[in-house]
Amino acid sequence: MTIANSTKPHTQPTILTGLRVNSEMTLGNFLGALLPMVRLANAHSDQYHVNIFVPDLHSIISEIDGNLQQNLLKSLKYFLAAGLNLNPNIHFYRQSRVPAHSELCWILNCVATMGELNRMTQYKDKSEGKDSVNVGIFDYPVLMAADILLYDAEFVPVGEDQFQHLELARRLAQRFNHRFGDLFTLPAEPKDQAKFMNVDHGIRIRDLQNPEKKMSKSTASANSKIMLSDDPKAAAKKIMSATTDSLGKIQYDMFNQPGISNLLQIEALVNDQPLQDVISTWAGETHYGDLKQKVAASVSTFLDDFQRKLATISDAEILDLLTTGETYANAIANRKLAAVQTAFGLR
Ligand code: TRP
Repeated sequence: MTIANSTKPHTQPTILTGLRVNSEMTLGNFLGALLPMVRLANAHSDQYHVNIFVPDLHSIISEIDGNLQQNLLKSLKYFLAAGLNLNPNIHFYRQSRVPAHSELCWILNCVATMGELNRMTQYKDKSEGKDSVNVGIFDYPVLMAADILLYDAEFVPVGEDQFQHLELARRLAQRFNHRFGDLFTLPAEPKDQAKFMNVDHGIRIRDLQNPEKKMSKSTASANSKIMLSDDPKAAAKKIMSATTDSLGKIQYDMFNQPGISNLLQIEALVNDQPLQDVISTWAGETHYGDLKQKVAASVSTFLDDFQRKLATISDAEILDLLTTGETYANAIANRKLAAVQTAFGLR
């Protein structure tokens, strides 16, 4: 068997993202993470490979909510329903179907230190107050580094909560390169990623009732969150009852007016309009009811279109995309893994 000399098999650079599957997604997750990724892919897939994968091995660090296979297919359908333009540069795959991820993770485990993993805030949060924590939760960021480094991914759009993991991937890559020469491409730093994505920082859609907090699936109050499966009319009502403030000014000020700012943000995202344009449109207006009515109508139209499109996408279509994507992913990942194994004397 010949091992490729080149560790840089791509003729085109790669944008990579892993979307954790959820049985249900909030409008906040969708607008904050998935939709920007779709728009990024549509804008750049002529010059970049765009790897969209399901980190199913990451999912099993905790109890699965629902059926993993069903959830996974549904999440990938969301990308298509959100308007992802498919082309041969877009690759869908499941982490567990590309064994090189697990294998590189082990090798990276022998380079990463307990100290640096102990500092990860996600690990600290997830393990806090528990007397027994599985090793997968601790090792999560190392597997994530493998996900990224196997493909020499340059851009890895993630939310702020994942910046620390991205930094770890960069650090591990540097450590490898220092020891073995140019083995891995370093993913761009979070601030450069944000520039590339055309956002200041991660977008965070807020809880409609408590806009100081992020919109979350686990919030008990149904009025706090909009789910992608919500009836569009019911979703509109939730917007109408959103908490605002008593300042009587429509302006974007997340600190003093998080409720109003959240509505402006939602309006911009569902209509694919720059936030600045929406802010200018409403500048000088004082009637919160008018803004709510407009956003409620936008959200309801958006959900209606989205749900209609979603219903037309079959499981078979997604499974076909996965089959093709996994052939591609295995070819790229195995080549990189072989180079790493060779560097370590394993080959
Ligand atoms: N940890 C990411 C999240 O929770 C998901 C993920 C796993 C990921 N591997 C990745 C994201 C690699 C980007 C690149 O959202």
